[in-house]
Amino acid sequence: MLVSSLFWACVIPGVLGASWIAPGAVWYDTDGNKIDAHGGGVVKRGDTFYWVGHAVANQTPILYSSADLVNWKNLGQQASSVSGMWRPKIAKPNGSFWLFGQQDRYVLSLKSSAFIGGYGQSAKVHIPPDDYSYSDTGMFHDEATDTWFLLTSADHNIVQVNRINKDGALGDKVSDLRAGAYEAPGIVKVDGVYFLIVSGKTGWRANPNKVFWATSINGPWTGGSDIAPEDQKTYGSQNTFELTVKGSQKTTYIYMGDAWDSKGGDGSNYVWLPMNIDVGSRSVTLDYHSMWKVDPNTGVVSYPTTQKRYEAEHAVLSGRTVVRDCNTCASKRSVHGVGDASEVTFRNVTGTGSRQWLSFHYRVNNPEAGEAHIFVNDGPAINISSLNSRAGYHASTPLQLTLKAGDVNTITFGATGSEDFDVSVDGIELFDEE
Ligand code: GLA
Repeated sequence: MLVSSLFWACVIPGVLGASWIAPGAVWYDTDGNKIDAHGGGVVKRGDTFYWVGHAVANQTPILYSSADLVNWKNLGQQASSVSGMWRPKIAKPNGSFWLFGQQDRYVLSLKSSAFIGGYGQSAKVHIPPDDYSYSDTGMFHDEATDTWFLLTSADHNIVQVNRINKDGALGDKVSDLRAGAYEAPGIVKVDGVYFLIVSGKTGWRANPNKVFWATSINGPWTGGSDIAPEDQKTYGSQNTFELTVKGSQKTTYIYMGDAWDSKGGDGSNYVWLPMNIDVGSRSVTLDYHSMWKVDPNTGVVSYPTTQKRYEAEHAVLSGRTVVRDCNTCASKRSVHGVGDASEVTFRNVTGTGSRQWLSFHYRVNNPEAGEAHIFVNDGPAINISSLNSRAGYHASTPLQLTLKAGDVNTITFGATGSEDFDVSVDGIELFDEE
């Protein structure tokens, strides 16, 4: 057993790492721990992407690195004496290295002589020129002018863009957006047009994030259209950063959002999606896929290929479960009535022996009315919703699970909830891991 797992670990590294970006799912780092970098942003240095965000327990900046935006190595907390710093972002206005974030409604800037580690407080200021208190940190680097801009949403319902001076001090205001209660700002620039993405202000609950545009960083900002269908509430997320991946074949623009739990706690996940940007019509929309990745060299986005499907209507059904027609299901049938003692048991599910992606195709009629769960090989109930903030809302819910190697696994799908809670199960899908 030990020998065989060592064998797999050595020869098939891809099997160990997550191979896909799965919006809303729990993402694990290369040590197998849940990634803990909220309200963050990503920069590329050389061939490496660096993701800084705040750790949920004490809101201290924490850094991860990756070559592919999928497998992230934890490089640790970056500022040993700093806590209560929300939404940290990397900036590099001169030879020093900088992190900016919000602490006690001030802009807190941290400085280090090295890119990784050793950050300490540089300044703690309100927002010039009006000395407004400060809220959500954004960050935008305009490559054309090599200028860094800090974006915030102050308490006056103003989304404001300030220059970061070459010496790392917070500089002049260059523009603002006074169009309503917005926060969580980020900018992506395409063909000379600046697109400012913001969320509404609804606490930890997701809302339809919007896009405004300008042909200069100095504004004026116009627009305010939704970046996703309104009822999807930005696929259950809140904007934190926009990343541009310039490849040899394609430039891919990525929306990075937080899928907060009800209190911004450790159940919070991430929703990253490619954006469709049409500069001519000034339109930015998220291109939703439950699993995807981008090749950092070519910039091309790809999706997993299904290896196997297990249909619910062919599984072992118990209790009051019933097979019904389903237009949107691959086999045109699904199983309804899943509940207490009414379960769908999939047998002989193939496992790799390591953590692998499986997608559960099921829907719930009302996520508030109950909870869907699975049992893997008669283990304890696993609440699916807590593993993926998209669970039950979207037809395909990817999860990473560790199954036994071979066609030997049993996965039972059950639910608990009120009388009118209905869970319909379509099936389980397995994917190629690369
Ligand atoms: C907003 C902010 C979050 C957090 C919550 C708290 O959603 O964007 O960062 O401060 O409010 O309610």
